[in-house]
Amino acid sequence: MARPPHLPATAALLGAALLLTACGGVGDAARPDGENGVIGIAMPTQSSERWINDGANMVAEFEERGYGTDLQYAEDVVQDQLSQIENMITRGVDALVIASIDGEALGDVLDLAADSDIPVIAYDRLIMGSENVDYYATFDNFEVGVIQGQYIVDSLDLENEDGPFNIELFGGSPDDNNAYFFNDGAMSVLQPHIDDGTLEVLSGQTSMEQIATPRWDGSVAQSRMDNLLSANYSDEEVHAVLSPFDGISLGVIESLRAVGYGTDAQPLPVVTGQDADLSSVRSIIAGEQTQTVFKDTRVLATQTVDMTEALLSDEEVPVNDTETYDNGVKVVPSFLLEPVSVDLDNYHEVLVESGYYEESELE
Ligand code: GAL
Repeated sequence: MARPPHLPATAALLGAALLLTACGGVGDAARPDGENGVIGIAMPTQSSERWINDGANMVAEFEERGYGTDLQYAEDVVQDQLSQIENMITRGVDALVIASIDGEALGDVLDLAADSDIPVIAYDRLIMGSENVDYYATFDNFEVGVIQGQYIVDSLDLENEDGPFNIELFGGSPDDNNAYFFNDGAMSVLQPHIDDGTLEVLSGQTSMEQIATPRWDGSVAQSRMDNLLSANYSDEEVHAVLSPFDGISLGVIESLRAVGYGTDAQPLPVVTGQDADLSSVRSIIAGEQTQTVFKDTRVLATQTVDMTEALLSDEEVPVNDTETYDNGVKVVPSFLLEPVSVDLDNYHEVLVESGYYEESELE
């Protein structure tokens, strides 16, 4: 990712050094304490570049404002994330910013944080079942799904065409609260067209239990798509695939290409996505993936740093939603940012002209 325009080169270098450390397998990116305190940042995985960018952006922003950081990735292993957070608590961080792997698994470790008066901000994914979550910084996750569903409706011109068109549905990880918001948003747009028969799900698989993709794993999605195609589409074409995440989209496209989609005679279906991951933006430019939803990790990082700083300075923490995100124990005050739909028509303006990617990265 290109260096965010507002960050000095030293911050970008620090970010790069962090990545190098992490890539080298050391995994411990603890930095010296800052004059204003130390922030523990627990991120889920480096397997998707968005989380690498999220971590690097936050480290740079916190350090610019005089905070030390302790950034850890747990490579989607829940127990490792718990140990990392425990270590942060033991070393006495001043606040925790956590993007959970399993949103339901952090209750006990957050009790420990509360015992040490360490405030907790849930980052991107809501932490469930704990009263010890102070704030939540994220995007409007329902809206992400609406954008994906509406993209399919518009692409197939479902307001004018009778179809029927064939669609298959993919969901995110069942232990990630976001997955349900994405799906609810998308289905709020798609369900009426399934009900009136303009869209058909030939597999019949529509519930989250049937369509979820554990750990958002693209290879799991690819195998599921292989099965869907062989069981339902030997004489039929797929016209659209609802995918909630770029990694899943690329797995689905692999599967489609393996049975001959991607030619003039058999074009790929409309395939949505999320995150504007580099490989998916390249795929969009190559005419394979159709769309993605861009969530600017620079803006989420800045928002989170603003909220943490306010919290630690006893100032009013900026929130814009105090109703939507109920974690089962409390409604967590949240700040929701706006997601943006990206396709071939606007990727240059949204991703290149904003400095998120360099043109050369997309070739
Ligand atoms: C979600 C997140 C998405 C995507 C997905 C897989 O929680 O909101 O943007 O990154 O995880 O990593």
